[in-house]
Amino acid sequence: MSSVQPAETKTPRKYQLLIDGKWVDAESGKTFLTPNPATGETLAEVAEADKADIDKAVKAARRAFEGKWSKISARDRGRMLYKLSQLIEENSAELAALETADNGKPIKESSYVDLPQVAENFEYFAGWATKIEGETIPVPGQMFNYTLREPVGVCGQIIPWNFPLLMAAWKLAPALAAGNTVVLKPAEQTPVNAMELGKLIEQAGFPEGVVNIVPGYGETAGAALAAHPGIDKVAFTGSTEVGKLVAKAAADNLSKVSLELGGKAPNIVFADADLEQAVNGAMMGIFFNQGQVCCAGSRLFVQEDVNPMDKATHMGPQVSEEQLNRIKGYVDIAQKEGATVVSGGVSPKLEGAFQKGYFFQPTIFSDVKNQMRVAQEEIFGPVVSVIGFRDEDDLIKQANDTIYGLSAGLWTKDITRAHRFAKEIRAGVIWINTYNMFNAASPFGGYKQSGYGREMGKHALEMYTNVKSVWVDLSGKPIGWFGN
Ligand code: NAI
Ligand code: MG
Repeated sequence: MSSVQPAETKTPRKYQLLIDGKWVDAESGKTFLTPNPATGETLAEVAEADKADIDKAVKAARRAFEGKWSKISARDRGRMLYKLSQLIEENSAELAALETADNGKPIKESSYVDLPQVAENFEYFAGWATKIEGETIPVPGQMFNYTLREPVGVCGQIIPWNFPLLMAAWKLAPALAAGNTVVLKPAEQTPVNAMELGKLIEQAGFPEGVVNIVPGYGETAGAALAAHPGIDKVAFTGSTEVGKLVAKAAADNLSKVSLELGGKAPNIVFADADLEQAVNGAMMGIFFNQGQVCCAGSRLFVQEDVNPMDKATHMGPQVSEEQLNRIKGYVDIAQKEGATVVSGGVSPKLEGAFQKGYFFQPTIFSDVKNQMRVAQEEIFGPVVSVIGFRDEDDLIKQANDTIYGLSAGLWTKDITRAHRFAKEIRAGVIWINTYNMFNAASPFGGYKQSGYGREMGKHALEMYTNVKSVWVDLSGKPIGWFGN
């Protein structure tokens, strides 16, 4: 039987905060509304966490970390994570419908991309729980030296709205596998599925306080979490601007920080590419998830006379009115800078329920120079800038001429060129003749101002563990430095 409430309830859904295993109102009693971006109608009313609630949640997470959770074996942690992955699979139809209602992404995306990957991440890290090991180090003398890999403690995790449940899974799964406890703040635009996940976490058997979920605004709840002295590690995904604020706030406590920030990825089409593959990949690169993807291929570098963009794709609404207006603003900026709209550039005229939705047409700009703002700043919408290039040297310079370094795509049949580029592009993920490929076992994260730390794969465990070096004398004799 499914335990997640279906999406199509008429009255707005209601959610409280999850703190210390209890569902509670915010200390202030405040709530906020989250709309369905396709219609503008209210989807849910959610308790609004602020500083006092964050403080309660951090204390609960600390108690759980030092108490029950520390006594649970790695095997049992793994079993709970695995159970959670199964519960997510059992409830995936309802969760996908809710993700679509909250974020606006087409149901095809939430059903076939988000939900399977959410389950996969919990399943993958369930396996890691029993495989986090230290080392023995061959030090000289009558000494035994070994390392322990221990959880860092209480983790504050700040989640964005573009893949609400998946970004929560990327952060929660390794943190819990390694034995940490968590205070998770979903994005104010998309809190619904984090709260549903909270219910499944309880069902999976995690003790109270191990995962606390505190929806609220970034400037209040998010800022309080990043700055809380009781937090050992802050994990953030979102804008580069806020990432810098988070790192500064955490610096006062020297809490560890990992940041997964913006991007302005080059997606490069060489004249020798398989054009059908490249056109398809260029569209996948920018229009997937309405362009609201940090690794989106928003700078499409095209060699000489290749014309890779000739059809549009099925689209959902943008996540919020604010994001829609931001995209419109960039269209104006681009035109003032001399770029030409080849297609799109406006909101579509829609009928009925969707009249008030936050829709925008897939948009292609030509006549773009890499120095223009439209090619340098993250837009986070279905807007691609087509930029020409002559040869490899020219291309590498332009492709790397960005403050970001999250990802890059390359389309070519020349295998030596492909690997040369993979080496020369300064970005954390390179896709060759493909785009937007992800797997729980493969690391993801940025170079330069796209952030630091890696999510997924065994590298994610590095962010959620401390290394302790233990020295043991095997001689039974005094050190002897001060005599003897
Ligand atoms: P944002 O960076 O403000 O929001 C991301 C998360 O950070 C949310 O949970 C938010 O509540 C929280 N937050 C906001 N201000 C905070 C603060 N001062 N301290 C702690 N947490 C805070 O992103 P926003 O405003 O929703 O979108 C603006 C732009 O950010 C987008 O247009 C896009 O360029 C970028 N972005 C990038 C994402 C990515 O996947 N790398 C995801 C979301 C947005
Ligand atoms: Mg913001």
